[in-house]
Amino acid sequence: MKVQLQQLLEQTVASLKQQGIIPADAQPRVQVDRTKDKSHGDLATNLAMMLSKAAGKNPRELAQLIIDNLPESSLVTKVDIAGPGFINFFLNPLWLVEQVEAALIDPRLGIEPIADPQTIVVDYSSPNLAKEMHVGHLRSSIIGDAVTRTLEFQGHKLVRQNHVGDWGTQFGMLLAYMEELQAKGQEINSNLSNLEVFYRAAKQRFDESEAFATRARNLVVELQSGDEHCNQLWREFNEVSLSHCQETYDRLGVSLTRADVRGESAYNDDLNQVVADLDQAGLLKEDQGAKCVFLDEFKNKDGDPLPVIIQKKDGGFLYATTDLAAMRYRQRELNADRVLYFVDARQGLHFQQVFTVARNAGFVKPATSLEHMPFGTVMGEDGKPFKTRSGTVAKLADLLTEAQNRAYDLVKSKNPDMAEQDLRNIADVVGIASVKYADLSKNRTSDYMFSFDQMLSFEGNTAPYLLYAYTRVASVFEKAEVNASELTGSVLLEHEKELDLASKLVQFNEVITSVARLGYPHLLCNYLYELAGLFSSFYEACPILKAETEAQKQSRLKLAWLTARTLKQGLSLLGINTLERM
Ligand code: ARG
Repeated sequence: MKVQLQQLLEQTVASLKQQGIIPADAQPRVQVDRTKDKSHGDLATNLAMMLSKAAGKNPRELAQLIIDNLPESSLVTKVDIAGPGFINFFLNPLWLVEQVEAALIDPRLGIEPIADPQTIVVDYSSPNLAKEMHVGHLRSSIIGDAVTRTLEFQGHKLVRQNHVGDWGTQFGMLLAYMEELQAKGQEINSNLSNLEVFYRAAKQRFDESEAFATRARNLVVELQSGDEHCNQLWREFNEVSLSHCQETYDRLGVSLTRADVRGESAYNDDLNQVVADLDQAGLLKEDQGAKCVFLDEFKNKDGDPLPVIIQKKDGGFLYATTDLAAMRYRQRELNADRVLYFVDARQGLHFQQVFTVARNAGFVKPATSLEHMPFGTVMGEDGKPFKTRSGTVAKLADLLTEAQNRAYDLVKSKNPDMAEQDLRNIADVVGIASVKYADLSKNRTSDYMFSFDQMLSFEGNTAPYLLYAYTRVASVFEKAEVNASELTGSVLLEHEKELDLASKLVQFNEVITSVARLGYPHLLCNYLYELAGLFSSFYEACPILKAETEAQKQSRLKLAWLTARTLKQGLSLLGINTLERM
């Protein structure tokens, strides 16, 4: 409704310009806000105050002119001028009814696919294959996936890119260790079942044996020069590591597949061309043998420009070089209109630098939007970066198992007589949902504290609370013994709580639009939490099964039904499954 009112006000501005009341070159940003106090209406704008100077009128006078020129619409019933010149709008309940009815008969809940779909490349998850995925990759995978699903729902074309770290010097060490094991007649695959252990063992050999370290370094060179034996080992290793990742995605319900993997190694053949292109564009400078780009925008403490190193003295390429090649590919081959990077906030400078280089070099079109979507660190309850009890970086798979086990205890305590298999199934959904929701519901730019107790609580803005709210609405239908498709009559918005609920329901589209634009899934979480809360108040104040009239009962069932579908759709955009009972 904010959007609709905004459109009306934009039309008003145009008409005021035509009449010469405000100057033709005025470009006001029309802003509509929800009011805190309902007695002042539902929505308000400060437009008159913003434009009063340009119009040479006092704000209240201009406010009246705006109201007089507002196009005819069923959206509002009453408009007031308040204080220094605010305009307050009172929503028309009939308009709300129309919107609710339209949503009820639409599989997309009244949300039309976007008129101008874009091609959006999303770089997310992107773990390093040398090691096991850890809790740091949780955020990128979960947040990136939620935003991807939301954009896809809007009707954009999404290209998922899992930019895995599958290249670089660490691989020399790993390959050397694989060779050693093979020479001892050991089976590689079983040794790779725990990558963390494998990595540590290889690292230990690297540190203790000069011969091993030399072999490792040689293997990197051989790998990079295309040696077949090395490439064979390397593929074998990555195959195992990628299948570990895929297992985690499947378990988490992250929509990435093997087809979305395009790792650093995929850009090997482009790197020399990147250097040549940068040189051609006059951007490269030699600094102590290394090829660098210096950007005036980024300076060190002494005010000297920071270099972005493109190629080292020994000819080796860097993380930044690969990212430049990837940007070039995403523009030229994938035709991206937007590229989103869900990567740790600590890589902020890296992205600002490579974005600038890519633009200066013409790797991306000026209209293409490159957006780093940073996120903070996962902290432990001790306020330090999250670690397991043994002090190592927490492995994702273990965390998920623990969440599911704790969810099992929780569900069992509520349903002591439930069959074992049902308990397990429900606990598995609740456990995963809790981990995901805890992450999604926090503003991603802040650090967040990983706490099983908090995420598995039935109170507050948590997955158990929302999943439970959803089952409650579902149970209303069970008790009513009606099928949602058989509901008749029109929606009646008589009670204040009915109005509040309906007005929240029709805001779903606005929230989706914000998540899609800003990449903040917590906005959707907050919305669903508020919706569930408003449903509770409605449910308490407005009897459904014991409604006074049949028409009222049908109407309230309709509101309940739309609430359930909105919760389910919203959670599904977050990548969270619902349960019919728990
Ligand atoms: N592999 C990197 C890491 O784990 C993240 C890659 C992010 N994506 C990118 N295009 N640089 O830190």
